[in-house]
Amino acid sequence: MKLSTKLKTGSGHSPSDSLFESIANDLLVRGFSIQHKALELDIADILHHHITNMPSTKFSDASIGRQQTNQLNEDVRRDEIAWINGESPAGIKWLQWTQALQSYLNRRLFLGLFSFESHFAHYGKGNFYKRHIDAFKGEANRVLSLVLYLNPQWQQGDGGELVIYENSADKQGIRVNPEYGTLAVFLSEEFEHEVLPTHTDRYSVAGWFRVNTSTGERADPPQ
Ligand code: OGA
Ligand code: MN
Repeated sequence: MKLSTKLKTGSGHSPSDSLFESIANDLLVRGFSIQHKALELDIADILHHHITNMPSTKFSDASIGRQQTNQLNEDVRRDEIAWINGESPAGIKWLQWTQALQSYLNRRLFLGLFSFESHFAHYGKGNFYKRHIDAFKGEANRVLSLVLYLNPQWQQGDGGELVIYENSADKQGIRVNPEYGTLAVFLSEEFEHEVLPTHTDRYSVAGWFRVNTSTGERADPPQ
């Protein structure tokens, strides 16, 4: 069988394909993509149900940096997070969906995305995350950032908008409302961004695709 036929019959067309294509296109043209009502509703619903019913003991204060360089820095960010390790049906569904997106983007854009790490995040009233970047050039780790918002009641005035800056001189940025089902995807090394102070509880799932930076001696596990 010809490869093209095999691919067609093998993968078929999932309802996510046009969404994935639109994300791939935006990434090519602008480096970021904002999608409204992005996921099939059942995934958003199951994630929303899960995050709003999670005991607060499952969350821990978000910290800056990794491993031994971890330090709590309340001036920079004040959210609380819970890493997703595929223990809950909600987490599994999300990881399956992001895996499908990863495969699509690798096929379409040759991004070489290798692994994915993700956490639930809760910003309580007054919480924020100041202007920052998710990955530093040359470190070649986090390549693509994504955030899915899970706030069915969000309205203007509630705050908690994501602001994506197109370059370091950009003071205005592009505002994204953290509305239910909105998905923001952007190149981790390219875009400074921030979360404006929220005036109400703000729920989301954030994740990062990474390339493999392992060497012979050093494994490169996520988180
Ligand atoms: C992050 C982040 C953005 C958001 O967790 O690194 O920038 O809108 N989140 O929650
Ligand atoms: Mn970030």
